[in-house]
Amino acid sequence: MEELQKVKEQIKKFIIEVDDKKSLELLDLLATGKMLRSKLILKIAGISEESIKLCAVVEMIHAASLLHDDVIDEADTRRGKPSINALFDNKTSIMFGDILYSKAFTQLSQMDKEIAYTVSNAVTLLSIGEMADVDLTQNFNTSYDKYFDMIYKKTASLIEASAKAAAIMAGLDKDKYALYGKNLGLAFQMIDDILDITQDSKTLGKPAMLDFVEGKVTIPYLLLHDRLEKEDKEKLKALYKKPLNEEESSWVKNQIESTKALEDSIIKAKNLGQEAIAAVEDEDNESLVLIMSAMINREF
Ligand code: FPP
Ligand code: MG
Repeated sequence: MEELQKVKEQIKKFIIEVDDKKSLELLDLLATGKMLRSKLILKIAGISEESIKLCAVVEMIHAASLLHDDVIDEADTRRGKPSINALFDNKTSIMFGDILYSKAFTQLSQMDKEIAYTVSNAVTLLSIGEMADVDLTQNFNTSYDKYFDMIYKKTASLIEASAKAAAIMAGLDKDKYALYGKNLGLAFQMIDDILDITQDSKTLGKPAMLDFVEGKVTIPYLLLHDRLEKEDKEKLKALYKKPLNEEESSWVKNQIESTKALEDSIIKAKNLGQEAIAAVEDEDNESLVLIMSAMINREF
């Protein structure tokens, strides 16, 4: 997609503006992701100087949040490449995140007020979501509500804000697009949680089944826990937050499959995807359906 290249160039221009050689070097080391948020913005608002800038701002905020998240999660890899904290140290990752994040906000302050409000408000939710995520890893969480609230804030909020801001920019019905973005974001995080279990580390670009080891009781584990008999529930809980050997990880994987926890997690994600589509049914934008199905059917 040529327009995604334009977004990358815009990010580079913004970083050139901050006039710091090290920041430019660090930017080059960042692996670009799927750019889901940009794809969404461009399909809703069309391609213009204004929309490319909005994409750049959102991608910079997203990249900043991942730079901080990799420190918080002590992750060595990001998108299949060594993370900045692994290549340098935690300090570099945090500080470069701060540069991306503050430059994005400087640019946001030059945009339409409602767009600036929508995006900046989502960053507060994002941060609260990250805090909730960390809190939920303290103990084995069995609450669906807490899981949903956390993934809404941590992941869906910025996707929701991207779709809403793009709709404001294009003069479209912002509530419909916000609902599309929210449900797309929730489904996106669930698919992420599912892929953590079903894919190998090579495809994921990070160790497989890492979530449970890190203490994240994601949707497949929530359903599994619900469905296990008392004894197996205890067995599952005993494995929580421990590095799993071959036998233990296949036991967990087999249980997730035989209890249909995996199948039903996929159904839940697909239903959210359908709800996203339903929200923009009358908007006559086929691309939004394609973005959703590509996201659901992705492999990493
Ligand atoms: C990845 O989650 C993390 C996020 C989507 C949000 C992180 C948000 C912050 C650190 C708040 C700070 C925000 C700014 C702008 C500085 P994950 O760990 O589940 O996913 P992963 O497997 O990709 O790491
Ligand atoms: Mg992480």
